[in-house]
Amino acid sequence: MKKISERIFYVGVNDDDKVLFEGLWPIPVGVSYNSYVVADEKVALIDTIESGFEEEFIANIGQAVGDRNIDYLVVNHMEPDHSSLISYMLDRYQGLKIVANAKTVPMLKGYHGISPEDVLVMGEGEELSLGSCSLRFHMIPMVHWPETMVTWLEEENTLFSGDAFGTFGSIDEEVIDNDDTFEQYRDEMMRYYACIVGKYGVPVQTALKKLGGLQIKRICSTHGPVWERNIPAVIDIYDRMSRYEVERGVCIVYGSMYGNTAAAADALAMELEERGIPYAIHDLAGNNAGELGLSGALRDIFRYDTIVVGSPTYNNGIYPPVETFMKALQARLIKGRRFYAFGSYTWAGASVRLLNELASSMNFEILGDGLSFPQAYSRDKVDMSAVADLLG
Ligand code: FEO
Repeated sequence: MKKISERIFYVGVNDDDKVLFEGLWPIPVGVSYNSYVVADEKVALIDTIESGFEEEFIANIGQAVGDRNIDYLVVNHMEPDHSSLISYMLDRYQGLKIVANAKTVPMLKGYHGISPEDVLVMGEGEELSLGSCSLRFHMIPMVHWPETMVTWLEEENTLFSGDAFGTFGSIDEEVIDNDDTFEQYRDEMMRYYACIVGKYGVPVQTALKKLGGLQIKRICSTHGPVWERNIPAVIDIYDRMSRYEVERGVCIVYGSMYGNTAAAADALAMELEERGIPYAIHDLAGNNAGELGLSGALRDIFRYDTIVVGSPTYNNGIYPPVETFMKALQARLIKGRRFYAFGSYTWAGASVRLLNELASSMNFEILGDGLSFPQAYSRDKVDMSAVADLLG
């Protein structure tokens, strides 16, 4: 538990054991499931946490409010990393009233069997008085599910923002950020955005415009530190990523069966290094994949303006891990990128052509026909220096 202000208490937990968030995304530095108590004449809990941490959660709430009952449970977002314990809380706290918006009602029924008449339904801009302060609700659909809303506590200039402005990474016991916190979390915030929210750039922009008039002095999101000192940087990174804004640089993403496409990728990286062109390189293939796998590649295609993809021809198609990557780009509606493809084949090349076709379907700027080479890589046969010149 951490006291955030006279009324607000952090009662969330860290999860340092989970390997894959959503069963998909590696979280080597953990994740926090954030929940907050607002204690006034009435006591409100903003979201719950993932199941498996019940004891710690209840202890945190107890430290915050002692024996007081909880009057309201505000459900900003129904994804189970925040809603798993709703039934548990209803069993534990007599008279606890669920506060949610209309789109949440059927999800409460479906996940927890809660009848619509047992939900206090709030609409856009409506307020719930806690006594000396009020909670106000604003809908931010598709950030990250259709039912998502934020809760604004005007008297504290505090935004309980749901997944918006969240990040991977456990948090320390200070909970509230300091001057170094943003830089500490920047890469994990980008990776979180790219993996979880990346498809929803337009709804994020809509939400940012809607919330733009609020005098925000504190952001309490569902994942990561409480932001007070770094609010402009945090909002800026979400703004830039949701506009698909990038810096000059190259993200090389490849898969390789026997090392030839990999050798070409490494050669290109060396050429970019020599030219001083910023780049990142990600191997997606099985045991060779880095700790972050696909998620690291997705983070960096939100960082750089040029995507270079390497794939051998496999079953007359694209090597499956690379195909998954391309589908992930399509799913995230990535736009405004330069694109180049390369890769090896043994008896008939298809991967480079197919990669270019996929890139064309996303309206990327295709930088030439690509480089499809037979059998083994060698520096004499495969001129990655010319490719680097093209990219520069
Ligand atoms: Fe952290 Fe969309 O849930």
